Amino acid sequence: MATIAEIFETLEYGPAPESADPALAWLEERGREVLPFIGGDFRRPASGEWFETMNPATAQPLARVAQCGAEDVDAAVEAARAAQGLWWNLGCHGRARHLYALARHVQKNARLLAVLETLDNGKPIRETRDIDVPLVARHFYYHAGWAQLMERELPGYVPVGVAGQIIPWNFPLLMLAWKIAPAIAMGNTVVLKPAEFTPLTAFAFAEICRDAGLPPGVVNILTGDGRTGELIVRHPDIDKLAFTGSTEVGRLIREATAGTGKKLSLELGGKSPFVVFDDADLDGAVEGVVDAIWFNQGEVCCAGSRLIVQEGVAETVYSRLRARMETLRVGDPRDKAIDIGAIIAPVQLERIERLVRQGVEEGAKLWQPSWSCPRDGWFYPPTLFTEVSPSDTIAQVEIFGPVLVAMTFRTPEEAIELANNTRYGLAASIWTENVNLALDLAAKIKAGTVWINSTNLFDAASGFGGYRESGFGREGGKEGLWEYLQPRWKVEATEARPERDYQNGKDEEDAKDDGAPAVLPPIDRTAKMYIGGKQSRPDGEYARKVVGPDGRLTGEVGEGNRKDIRNAVEAARKAAAGWAKATAHNKAQILFYVAENLAARREEMARRLDAMTGAGVEAGRAEVDLSVDRLFAYAGWADKYAGTVQATPLRNFTFAVHEPIGTLAIACPDERPLLAFIATVAPAVAMGNAVVAVPSERWPLAATDLYQVFDTSDVPGGVINIVTGGRDALAGVLAAHDDVDSLWYFGSREGSAAVERASIGNLKRTWVSYGHARDWTDPEQGMGEEFLRQAIQVKNIWAPFGE
Ligand code: NAI
Repeated sequence: MATIAEIFETLEYGPAPESADPALAWLEERGREVLPFIGGDFRRPASGEWFETMNPATAQPLARVAQCGAEDVDAAVEAARAAQGLWWNLGCHGRARHLYALARHVQKNARLLAVLETLDNGKPIRETRDIDVPLVARHFYYHAGWAQLMERELPGYVPVGVAGQIIPWNFPLLMLAWKIAPAIAMGNTVVLKPAEFTPLTAFAFAEICRDAGLPPGVVNILTGDGRTGELIVRHPDIDKLAFTGSTEVGRLIREATAGTGKKLSLELGGKSPFVVFDDADLDGAVEGVVDAIWFNQGEVCCAGSRLIVQEGVAETVYSRLRARMETLRVGDPRDKAIDIGAIIAPVQLERIERLVRQGVEEGAKLWQPSWSCPRDGWFYPPTLFTEVSPSDTIAQVEIFGPVLVAMTFRTPEEAIELANNTRYGLAASIWTENVNLALDLAAKIKAGTVWINSTNLFDAASGFGGYRESGFGREGGKEGLWEYLQPRWKVEATEARPERDYQNGKDEEDAKDDGAPAVLPPIDRTAKMYIGGKQSRPDGEYARKVVGPDGRLTGEVGEGNRKDIRNAVEAARKAAAGWAKATAHNKAQILFYVAENLAARREEMARRLDAMTGAGVEAGRAEVDLSVDRLFAYAGWADKYAGTVQATPLRNFTFAVHEPIGTLAIACPDERPLLAFIATVAPAVAMGNAVVAVPSERWPLAATDLYQVFDTSDVPGGVINIVTGGRDALAGVLAAHDDVDSLWYFGSREGSAAVERASIGNLKRTWVSYGHARDWTDPEQGMGEEFLRQAIQVKNIWAPFGE
């Protein structure tokens, strides 16, 4: 045991390993066997063949894995084909709900997935826990949004059909998400094969599909090596192939599919440049190098594996880099303080060692830290080569390990030439404090992704993919969706899905509830205001009666006044800045969560609506369903309605950025009291505004029932504030209030005119209905870009770009 004084002396980290026990117990419960998932069931492989998956950090076996053969592949493709029509017919919102459920289940199982991934792949738990698994969830959330919006945003497009997907071992679960999420969001079904080295998280994901209630056959997972991959590639009933892996195999797949009419996307290798200019923040750049080449042991297709540094600062950069390398820690990937884990397999380790030997033989100068790596697994130290010439093997070939090769340049032109001196074109990273220089290089380097003063940044909203031999096609962003779509006119079969019927409930529980007597909620409470995330008593202490269709009292709400509005605006204002800064993903997540919690109260809400309007419980259910649908839609748009790049003349790009307006007030209409409330508040919130809403004057109880929904859905206090009372009176106060940045008014012609008049003085932005009623159930009138546009303001940022 070290004394405290000794610890202070050495500053050595103690071991802090994440326990493997729950994950090992999970494997044990499954007999340490990884089975294929076909048509919603786990089956034993028809081939009867097995192989082992190993823990790279210990060189010990973890489980035995089915080697799927032709019969298994046939069964999986058949199951995918059989499921595809139903999956498509489920409609946008149905698929969105399923993708959302997958995202939630990934989050719920996050730690198990992270530990399994670390055991199977050898990458540090810090990375699986903080990067891989959160990005997986993010991918499913993001594509839940696209599933929801597909019909509107991609009209005239239909799914390709059955997708065969083959993925590598370096980001096993993340690559699975990159493949499966867009495919199923767009209505395809999939047959996916994980890499033979890393099948565990795909196996766990198959269970997630089953547990989350994904219809059988939508996702099928086949384990096996390249032979299984080849069977998928050559299967005649596959419509589309998506592959990530080596350029060699990519080429084989191109060959096998050429002329077959199968759609193909390939995400292959890279040798990405990391360019450092002499004016860069050199310490930042050195940390960037650590992320670029030592993240994931350098087993990253877009790793910044070629350091291209300006001559004057080269020695400084190298020496700071060596000092930093000396402090990197290689070892047990379950240890939370480890920087670099184990290499996937002996074959990969040998490949790295061979290429490093070749580098030395070709005359480059090798440097490795003084410490040695653990020997009980497959480890390799961080390695730096200097004095490398651009034509050396190590400067041209993808090493796929923690090996960095460095070269120098004098002028920007030379930097560009070196950066482009590769057969690949996946990514590039540019470090300089000079924005003109950075953007000039960004335009000239041939790569699918360019990071300025940053590296290895990924997000579902940003497309990823290569130029040249790095492959073609994109994953992520809107552009990634095209890989899984085809124009409707191309499809001869008339499989167009039937129109959805919102009036007829779709859930089984509807049938059994039909005709059940409506149980009125008790009339014993007066709904308060909702301000700053808390319920507050109306300032005036007057109540407003809410009367049902038969003239009976169904409830009471507070009669809001000037003071209530003042408090609500103040709360909104306080919340607005934080909410505007929250990530789009976070906003989307919260809106999805509101939808989830609203759906859970479907019956209660439906009866409440019926009690107020007398339209029937069935109509109430339909209104709740539509409200959930709207919430999904705006959750989808939250991270997609994000501005454009304008083609302005001169040497620049103009980024038209969408910004929230700030504090947005909404006076809701009477009709469809729940739906209209959601249909107006959700877009405002999705675009980053804080809202003060006056719900339906006649039927406000639907909105006041939402307080608990908001409370349980992580809506930050003050982002949505609700003041009940007379629409026109409160709208007048809101219009005159200087801290309300914009006012939407859905009411009478006179009320509209009054709002516009009241805002002459402060020139507030207003959007009024002039007495025109909308059909809130109609997707054209009740949702979409009109609402989004009214919820944002556009800022144009002009940036120099290109020649
Ligand atoms: P690989 O390309 O052989 O394996 C990737 C996937 O393709 C695996 O699922 C594998 O089972 C499957 N596969 C193999 N042969 C196939 C075939 N003929 N038809 C269909 N599918 C097939 O990559 P491998 O052997 O694991 O690694 C070799 C090198 O590839 C690495 O050293 C690295 O340079 C590169 N690589 C690049 C990756 C990237 O993301 N760009 C990922 C993995 C490897």
